[in-house]
Amino acid sequence: MIQTGDRNSLGEALEERTGGPLALVPTMGALHAGHVALIRHARERGYDVAVSIFVNPMQFGPDEDLDRYPRPLSEDLDLCRSEGVSLVFTPPVSEMVVPASRIRITHPVGSLYCGAHRPGHFEGVLTIVSKLFHLFGPEIAVFGQKDRQQLFLIERMVRELDFPLGIEPVPTVREPDGLARSSRNRYLSVEERALAPLFHAHLVAARNRGLPAHPEDLSRWEGVLFADLVRSGFRPDYVALVSEETFLPPVQMSGPMILLAAVWLGKTRLIDNIELTA
Ligand code: PAF
Repeated sequence: MIQTGDRNSLGEALEERTGGPLALVPTMGALHAGHVALIRHARERGYDVAVSIFVNPMQFGPDEDLDRYPRPLSEDLDLCRSEGVSLVFTPPVSEMVVPASRIRITHPVGSLYCGAHRPGHFEGVLTIVSKLFHLFGPEIAVFGQKDRQQLFLIERMVRELDFPLGIEPVPTVREPDGLARSSRNRYLSVEERALAPLFHAHLVAARNRGLPAHPEDLSRWEGVLFADLVRSGFRPDYVALVSEETFLPPVQMSGPMILLAAVWLGKTRLIDNIELTA
């Protein structure tokens, strides 16, 4: 396995590569079973897998967890090695962020839901992801469905800006109790970890209750879920039902939809989503 943090060496390694078509798995490190699923997804389909590990400062707000975001690099490299990854790119910020650069890729959906609570977050994600796509030139890039709004925006960016690669989504990997795997789960205290699975359980309960017949009753339906989350000890940022196609509130209650939510549990922000069909 080749590891480099230097863009020139990355270019050389990519030119000298002899493996099959290239798959990129972009990450911020602190790798877990969710990332393993992304790597395996690509390997099982015959791709030579490259992983980028970069905690992207452009996607963190001034009061967010950039400084304390976990960076267990040697464990991450061991995991990549054991999963058969060929190339790991671990750039310092100076290799990826042009000082004072104002270039950003934006989309209106990026300022809704998570974007409304994390201004500039998705612009930072899209900008760095587009840069990674240029640096690697992969045939495919693999992303988890846990970050569903991110996945939607990356798919749109690739489609509308003609990036020459395919985006492959992989279902959320969950703990046996339902909690979606996330690098931030390691922030949870023992008590918070015990409570955390209720987040997913409430989303499933809302789906099981069934959707309202008319879009005008949607905010009341979302409000019930919001109140249930509050009663269980979470502080929700938002709860939103969106059309899978547009990522906007459904104009009629039919077709594939996604129920999205973000909650705080103590000092940890958790996101999750589930699919529904009306
Ligand atoms: O999902 C992530 O880990 C990050 O948002 C990504 C896609 C690696 C961009 O920094």
